[in-house]
Formats: sequence, C-alpha cells, structure tokens
Amino acid sequence: MDFPGIDGFLGTRASLALDLVLVAMVAILPVLAWSIWLVKRRRRYELHKKVQLALALALAAAITLFEIDVRLVSGWRERAMPSPYYAATTAGPLWTLLCCDLLGMQAVPGWVFRVLAVHLVFAVSTTALWIVVTVRALRRFPIPPQPGPHSLSHRLWGQLAAWDMLATAITGGVFYWVPLRQLNEISHSKGVGRL
Ligand code: HEM
Repeated sequence: MDFPGIDGFLGTRASLALDLVLVAMVAILPVLAWSIWLVKRRRRYELHKKVQLALALALAAAITLFEIDVRLVSGWRERAMPSPYYAATTAGPLWTLLCCDLLGMQAVPGWVFRVLAVHLVFAVSTTALWIVVTVRALRRFPIPPQPGPHSLSHRLWGQLAAWDMLATAITGGVFYWVPLRQLNEISHSKGVGRL
C-alpha cells in the first residue's frame, strides 16, 4: 500500500518519523533511570546535569522532527485508516456519555482517537514539566551543581517528570501499536463511519 511521505523501518505502516520517535522514547527510559541512579546513589551531580541536558536536547530534536513529518510530510491518518480501530463506533454507556452527551460528538471516536487523547495528556504535560524542571534546575542550582535550597522542589518535580515520561512512552507505544502495527491491514470495522 502506498502512503504519502517516507515509510519507517520497523516493518509497520508508520512513517519514518513515527518509528524514530518510538525508538527515541524507548531508548530514553534506561538513560533517564541511569541519570537518576547516578544522582541518588553516586551523587554524580555534574554528570546527572550533562545527561539530563543531552536527553532534553534529544527529546526536543525528536519532537521537532516528528511535528514536521506528521504535519507537513507523511501525516498519520492515511496510515492509520486501514485499521479496524480507526472508524467511529458504537461503544458502552460511559463512552457515549463522555463523547456524545458531554462533548457533543456525533459518535464515539474509534479506539485510535481515544488512545491518542490519553497519550496527548501525558505527552503535553511531560514536555511542559521537562522544560520547567530543566530551566529551574539551571537557574537555581550552583555551578557545578550541588544540593541546596532548590533540592526538595527539584526532587519532587523531577520524579514527576520522570514518571510522566514513562507514561508518555507507554501510551505512545499503545497509540503506535493499535492503528499501525500491520503493513497490510484490511479494515473490517463494524464502525459507523469516519468522524
Ligand atoms: C528534566 C530534567 C531533570 C529531571 C527529570 C531530573 C530528575 C531528578 C531527580 C528525580 C532527582 C532526585 C533523585 C533522588 O531521588 O534523590 C534529581 C536530583 C538532582 N538533580 Fe536533577 N533532573 C533534571 C535536570 C537537572 C539539571 C538540569 C540539573 C542541574 C542544573 C539537575 C541537578 C540535580 C541535583 C543537584 C540533584 C540532587 C538534589 C538533592 O538530592 O539534593 N537536575 N534530579
């Protein structure tokens, strides 16, 4: 099947940027865990700072590339459409209450869009948290970095940013897997049409 843009390398219907972002999100997790271990167990504050700044730059590059590709080059909807989980569908009373009664939609969106909504909550909050935690750490820790009055707040928000990153990677993986996993998928949805 031919899709607009550049195909990825993981053997699914995803574009190159989606594959790269998925790999980056998974690769960041062990490095993040190592960076926190470094500061917690080894008190390597300077190395923790360097690793965190490198991770922040890598994430910023991945997000920029992803946004350019998804918005201007490859898109994702055409690639997700063959999935049986793309089309709007009939769903349980809770989804109907939330989507139709409260949000005024005509039908409950397919799983692809529901998973995307959950993923976006984590992805957007993670981006905001990483910017805030990094900028505050750069401003408030001395050079070279040492524990101080900012430590308590940094530990709290740093842990939140790290857990948020984990949730972003998990929900991002689900969003990738649900609509894009097979190269040649024929829609056999019982859905009630596109949104
Ligand atoms: C998004 C970026 C960052 C995250 C997620 C993060 C995460 C963390 C976490 C979770 C801890 C606490 C470890 C523990 O439980 O004891 C910590 C400690 C620390 N971080 Fe970061 N960090 C980030 C960026 C930075 C930067 C840029 C600097 C330096 C400018 C820095 C300097 C420190 C220092 C000095 C400590 C030790 C605080 C103390 O225990 O008194 N961090 N960080």
